[in-house]
Amino acid sequence: MTPHAAAREHHAPVTVRAPAKVNLGLTVGPLLDDGFHDLATVYHAVSLYEEVTATATEPGSGITLEVVGEGAAGVPTDDGNLAWRAAELVAEALGVRPDVHLLLAKGVPVAGGMAGGSADGAAALLACDTLWQGALHRDDLVPLAAALGSDVPFALHGGTAIGTGRGDRVTPVLARGTFHWVVAVSDVGLSTPEVYAECDRMRAGRPVARPEVSDELMAALRAGDAAALGVALSNDLQAPALSLRPSLHGVLDAGAAAGALGGVVSGSGPTCVFLARDDEHALDVSASLADAGVCRSVRRAVGPVHGARVVATESVLR
Ligand code: C5P
Repeated sequence: MTPHAAAREHHAPVTVRAPAKVNLGLTVGPLLDDGFHDLATVYHAVSLYEEVTATATEPGSGITLEVVGEGAAGVPTDDGNLAWRAAELVAEALGVRPDVHLLLAKGVPVAGGMAGGSADGAAALLACDTLWQGALHRDDLVPLAAALGSDVPFALHGGTAIGTGRGDRVTPVLARGTFHWVVAVSDVGLSTPEVYAECDRMRAGRPVARPEVSDELMAALRAGDAAALGVALSNDLQAPALSLRPSLHGVLDAGAAAGALGGVVSGSGPTCVFLARDDEHALDVSASLADAGVCRSVRRAVGPVHGARVVATESVLR
């Protein structure tokens, strides 16, 4: 048996699950020279997950990638996928060859503003490190995550956290209790750069303040007060997302009419999220939203949940 074959025997497939995010508050500051905006955001990880399974392949076979689940057809299966780039970064950091098959099972709306692609990147970092027994510490993975994208460090981290800089500097916040969300998924995604560009266009000529997280939002989280949190939800990318996709007004109105405590476009959209009092209320809101016929599908989720985690060293995909 060759050494590689022997190594492979010990390298059972590794499955990592990473969560979607909602931005409870997102303040977009000035456009910086690097093409990114200075942000202050409160990330909240919710129970919609991406699962990435990394399986060792023949030496020299390189990276292969397969995507299954809702919206899979629109997801790149080459180095345009953050999971692919994550495998390259981990291999480089460990000095090993990236011979791996990555299977992505999508549970987060594609191009929906919930950072599904970022979750794939975070999950693949952890899956490849575990597969190659690199034992990179979580702290070692954070710079690799930040190199992949602004939301990737948070997908590793999970929970509820403030994001500053491009969104890649993550600090945990104190949040009490569990919040119940209803997620309205649109038919067609929105491009994040286009939504940021629309944001710049809409406020051209006006001074842009330094971004800050709102005190009301932080107080609601500390108190675990869902009603106060519903009122405090805010997102500077909501107006540009609505400008590019006016039909989202109908989704937000339907959520309000359904009795949600609050609703907001998630990140750069077009997914909209609505806060409910509890599980039963979330069921009511989701039924009303589904009846309103304003979105492709309605999902329920809770938050906060943990960040990227190994869930199995054999595939758990069913
Ligand atoms: O970091 P990520 O690749 O997710 O960003 C996608 C795009 O979103 C960027 O190319 C940029 O156009 C925009 N963006 C931004 N400011 C940020 C984060 C993202 O303008 N802080």
